[in-house]
Amino acid sequence: MCGIVGYIGHENATDIILDGLRRLEYRGYDSAGLAVLNGSGVQVHRAEGKLLNLEKEVFRAAPKGEIGIGHTRWATHGGPTERNAHPHKVGQVLVIHNGIIENYDKLRKKVAKDTSRVFESDTDTEVIAHLMDHYLQQGRTAFEAFKKTLKDLEGSYAIAVLHEEDPDHLYLARCGSPLVLGVGESSHHLASDIPALLPYTREVIFIEDGDYGILSTDKVELYGEDDKAVTRPVKHISWDQSMAEKGGYRHFMLKEIFEQPEAVSQTLTGRLGKAHKEVILEGMEHLMPAKGFPFEKVYIVACGTSYHAGLVGQYLMEGMARIPVVIDNASEFRYRNPIIDKKTLVIAISQSGETADTLAAIQQAKKQGAKILSICNVIDSSIPRASDETIYTQAGPEIGVASTKAFVTQLTVLTLLALEWAGRTGQLKKADLEKAAGDLKRLPQKIKQVLDLNDEIKELAKRYTEVRSFLYFARGLHYPIALEGALKLKEISYIHAEGYSAGEMKHGPIALIDKGMPVLVLAPKEDATYEKVIGNIEEVKARGAEVIAVASRGDKAISERVEHVLYVPKAPLFLQPILEVIPLQMLAYHIADHKGTDVDQPRNLAKSVTVE
Ligand code: AGP
Repeated sequence: MCGIVGYIGHENATDIILDGLRRLEYRGYDSAGLAVLNGSGVQVHRAEGKLLNLEKEVFRAAPKGEIGIGHTRWATHGGPTERNAHPHKVGQVLVIHNGIIENYDKLRKKVAKDTSRVFESDTDTEVIAHLMDHYLQQGRTAFEAFKKTLKDLEGSYAIAVLHEEDPDHLYLARCGSPLVLGVGESSHHLASDIPALLPYTREVIFIEDGDYGILSTDKVELYGEDDKAVTRPVKHISWDQSMAEKGGYRHFMLKEIFEQPEAVSQTLTGRLGKAHKEVILEGMEHLMPAKGFPFEKVYIVACGTSYHAGLVGQYLMEGMARIPVVIDNASEFRYRNPIIDKKTLVIAISQSGETADTLAAIQQAKKQGAKILSICNVIDSSIPRASDETIYTQAGPEIGVASTKAFVTQLTVLTLLALEWAGRTGQLKKADLEKAAGDLKRLPQKIKQVLDLNDEIKELAKRYTEVRSFLYFARGLHYPIALEGALKLKEISYIHAEGYSAGEMKHGPIALIDKGMPVLVLAPKEDATYEKVIGNIEEVKARGAEVIAVASRGDKAISERVEHVLYVPKAPLFLQPILEVIPLQMLAYHIADHKGTDVDQPRNLAKSVTVE
């Protein structure tokens, strides 16, 4: 996720900005830049790759000034190149931005029509600088032009802006992406996150969504969504640097679990149409004509957690769009001599975009003539580059080795695909699609409600720190979530855990059950197999199992049958996997944390598996 830093005061802005960017490195980035302003003009430096490259540039030129902005970019629109790095300068306007401008294409056309503008980057951000310049040229003051620009933007953003001829003011705005303001002595700092502020001040103002304003050395002017002046409270921060990087959470994994509402919301951005009544997946036109579904089958390949997302995708695509889907572990696929040809669409799912087995599966599928669609979280990584088309999840960088927010955003993209294809195959009518799009729009809110279970799960987890084994079971669409819950527990707590389809229990695994064995069961009331799952619960209870059920809110009856119930909000069936996996992530996390394992970097595991 991009990092923003801004400074206005009486010290050397370059040093403060570089230091702030270094302190935001944990957020992940692939290029960086800064602009420093003084009475005689602005100096802009940008570089691909690590901050060291930017520092080399900067040390050569030694920009001097007491106001400046800096940025680390996590590429979303346009590759991680120097020309796509921020700040973007148009006329006298310099802009850095974190987030996604949903209507950037429309805005680009708007400014290009009125003037003879040349866009120098592939980013959605550059249009902000063009718009502000455009409004300046119409005779507005810098602040008026900034305000007018904000009114045009749709999507999410945290923005900092400099005007080359105004070294006394720094402009800022926030809508959906993080931005905090540090209050120093005769200085103000801006940042995407608190770690960048800590060496300079512990007095911070959390800018709220819809706020915009102007900073000078001794004054903060903030305005709310209705353009009225607002005052936001100054808060004192006592966190140390490492706590601050994790947003006050004990581990990145927990922070990332709590980032899931935003990650899903970002992944939906621009994909539900303006009125949130349709599904729009950019790039689909490169794979298929505007109508119909030209492939005979879909073949999904992935590893680990991404494979579990693929299993849910299989249920959704077959169930909703009635398209045949085969799925395989990428490591098996490549040695299977799979039956695929040019009538097959292969979907490769990978959080990192670098998994060696998945990459090899793509090469194999290409040789056999298949088209490749990848679902990935890292722009321009190896898997997207090897694919015909990519749909990016917008989870932001995931630092904990155990995948959480990347998984739910993969599920989100697979759901969008299933819906789009169900429209194409005529399985869902316009009204059904409109309803589904509305349900998706409300999903981040429901995820927030599931996160409220955290304290209850933390307490519950204490019971299981010493167990040797854990079983997870479920049916249908929920079965892959049982697999994922078991994988999460194994990865970070080192407790042996297995996921099974509930119907398979009596074909073997039930032999494992004896007194006190913990069994987690996904038992959503709305599912057609609910009664059968209840039957499976009775079977394991009769053999002494201690059962935790993840159930639909309002299902009181289930609490009489099991030791503990974790209630999740009611939701249409196709969204339940996303809600159900969150308590399982939290359970694994808290068991591991109580045990004291290295949650973010569990033994023997790597974040991206680039060897076979
Ligand atoms: C997830 O918690 C794991 N660390 C692992 O299973 C991972 O999902 C797998 O290695 C695939 O990685 P990818 O999504 O980056 O391709």
